[in-house]
Amino acid sequence: MSKILITGCAGYIGSIAADIFLKNGYQVVSIDNFQTGYKQPIEILQERHKDKFKFYEADLKGDLSPIFEKESKNREAAFDAVVHYAASCVVDESMKNPYKYFQNNVLGSLNLLETLAKYKINRLVFSSTCAVYGEAKTVPISEENPTNPNNVYGESKLMIEKMIDWYGKIKGLNYVILRYFNVSGASEDGVFGYSKDPSTHLTENAVKSSLGIVPFYLTYQKMETPDGSPIRDYVNVIDLNEAHMKAVEYLTKGGGSQLINLGTGTGNSVLEIVNKVQELTGKKFDVKPADKPREGEAPKLIATIEKAKSILDWSPKRKVEDSVKSLLTWYKAHPQGWEK
Ligand SMILES: NC(=O)c1ccc[n+]([C@@H]2O[C@H](COP(=O)([O-])OP(=O)(O)OC[C@H]3O[C@@H](n4cnc5c(N)ncnc54)[C@H](O)[C@@H]3O)[C@@H](O)[C@H]2O)c1
Repeated sequence: MSKILITGCAGYIGSIAADIFLKNGYQVVSIDNFQTGYKQPIEILQERHKDKFKFYEADLKGDLSPIFEKESKNREAAFDAVVHYAASCVVDESMKNPYKYFQNNVLGSLNLLETLAKYKINRLVFSSTCAVYGEAKTVPISEENPTNPNNVYGESKLMIEKMIDWYGKIKGLNYVILRYFNVSGASEDGVFGYSKDPSTHLTENAVKSSLGIVPFYLTYQKMETPDGSPIRDYVNVIDLNEAHMKAVEYLTKGGGSQLINLGTGTGNSVLEIVNKVQELTGKKFDVKPADKPREGEAPKLIATIEKAKSILDWSPKRKVEDSVKSLLTWYKAHPQGWEK
């Protein structure tokens, strides 16, 4: 049985990832320092998956050797692969507190990379972001597009990508870097979901508002798109995590290092998302174009996903409707998200 390490397992995407990997027969060890994560998803994972799931409260910036030593007992290597989600990831915060982002994301990842090299673990899947592209000159955005982040969060992720690549060249690390577009949705049973408050996620806010949890008054930038609202690429969180599992399988079969976008390749407009929430909930929102357009907003930001299709044999199966349905189940059960 494959044993993997997941970092950031108490967070939104990592908790859903752990559940999916465990349901698919993996043994999962996880690390989180609860910086933005929560104890409840860890407790649920422990209850659901018993001894197949193990959790360490630890900071990636600290000494990880005791964990790796312990997990190496009776095995050739501590882990067959590592899936690295842990990070600070709020764009606005990164522009106010660059130190936090360079320290936590870059130093934390460097420490992890050095530990992987020390314990001869040579398979890594890394959570990156489309923020590394900055204001893309050509759309759809392929992995060949130039990188030019316009915020500290994106820059910190690009720095990690480069470190990973150097560890690949020097220490033989094989990696899959996954650049996500807009992640959306909850686990299909509504048990794990997005908990940040305030949320910057459109679909999450619209669903919360439809349930009367938060007020929602949407203004959008008028753009040259068919319905006049911006188009973004919303990838469902289950689809996204299934791609991570495929990336682990790809590396396990001996696949070489890759840099891959994860999106839908088509995208949805802001109005399409809001209309879908209205249709599924019967709740009407007040939606109108903003008076003043924001500088530098692109009308359409979508990914090309040909590499994900050809290399990982992955394509998104779920639609906006599925994300909205899972969010309705999640927020009905957890109106305020996880308890702090
Ligand atoms: N949510 C999105 O839309 C999105 C989009 C693109 C990329 N990503 C990337 O996906 C990953 C997961 O994002 P998320 O939305 O689940 O965020 P999240 O904040 O919910 O989860 C991050 C987890 O990492 C943990 N963590 C942070 N620093 C740590 C450290 N030094 N040591 C141990 N644990 C630490 C946090 O406590 C938290 O549980 C991040 O790397 C993020 O950059 C997310």
